[in-house]
Amino acid sequence: MGNPSPKRGRGFFITLEGGEGGGKSTQAKRLVAFIQEKGWQVLLTREPGGSSGAEDIRKLLVSGEPGRWDAMTEVLLHTAARRDHLQRTVLPAIEAGQWVVSDRFVDSTVAYQGYGHELGAERILDLHRIANGGFMPDLTLILDLSVEEGLARAGSRGGGEDRYERMKRDFHERLRQGFLEIAKSDPKRCKVIDASQSVETVAAAIEVAVSGMVNI
Ligand SMILES: Nc1ncnc2c1ncn2[C@@H]1O[C@H](COP(=O)(O)OP(=O)(O)OP(=O)(O)O)[C@@H](O)[C@H]1O
Ligand SMILES: [Mg+2]
Repeated sequence: MGNPSPKRGRGFFITLEGGEGGGKSTQAKRLVAFIQEKGWQVLLTREPGGSSGAEDIRKLLVSGEPGRWDAMTEVLLHTAARRDHLQRTVLPAIEAGQWVVSDRFVDSTVAYQGYGHELGAERILDLHRIANGGFMPDLTLILDLSVEEGLARAGSRGGGEDRYERMKRDFHERLRQGFLEIAKSDPKRCKVIDASQSVETVAAAIEVAVSGMVNI
């Protein structure tokens, strides 16, 4: 455990992205197990959340009425949570040589608020540059799934964190297209994975993508 990275002194930062119910949380756990089996130290985290302050902000974002926040307020809350998460959790871990796997990151804000709420991707990325120096993952896995299938799967997850799920159907369509646009605009970092396949097949595709980034 704790091998130094073969390519550099810091760990790799991998994010899982996509709409509701695509299998991000399922695959994040499997990916962490895969990285551990290879002998690396790895931290599993999530957004919004992943640090004590950001988990407090999460509660404001994932529960309550769909129209609780206007779109820009929502972006500012996500961006504040992300800054805390990066400062307290992600950056210290990768600087210590650990890998970090995050269940959602900035692409979710670009997709949900930039495309879903139609604020535009650039404004979200501008705020990310101001708040977080524009810090981006080494690899982003976008789990792509039809809106129907995703919402049906997410509905079975339960837990009451369903504020975004309850937004309108066209919001979810814009969000899916948004993730595909993000992947197109940054093809080196982003890999789109067909999430309609079995858990095993998706996990295998993710392992191929990770192995293509670094000789794990
Ligand atoms: N490839 C798959 N095929 C069928 N069902 C799946 C697959 N992957 C995950 N599931 C199931 O779908 C539901 C949602 O999966 P999961 O919670 O991992 O998705 P998520 O992307 O994290 O969702 P959310 O956006 O709501 O957090 C779970 O019940 C999970 O067991
Ligand atoms: Mg999840």
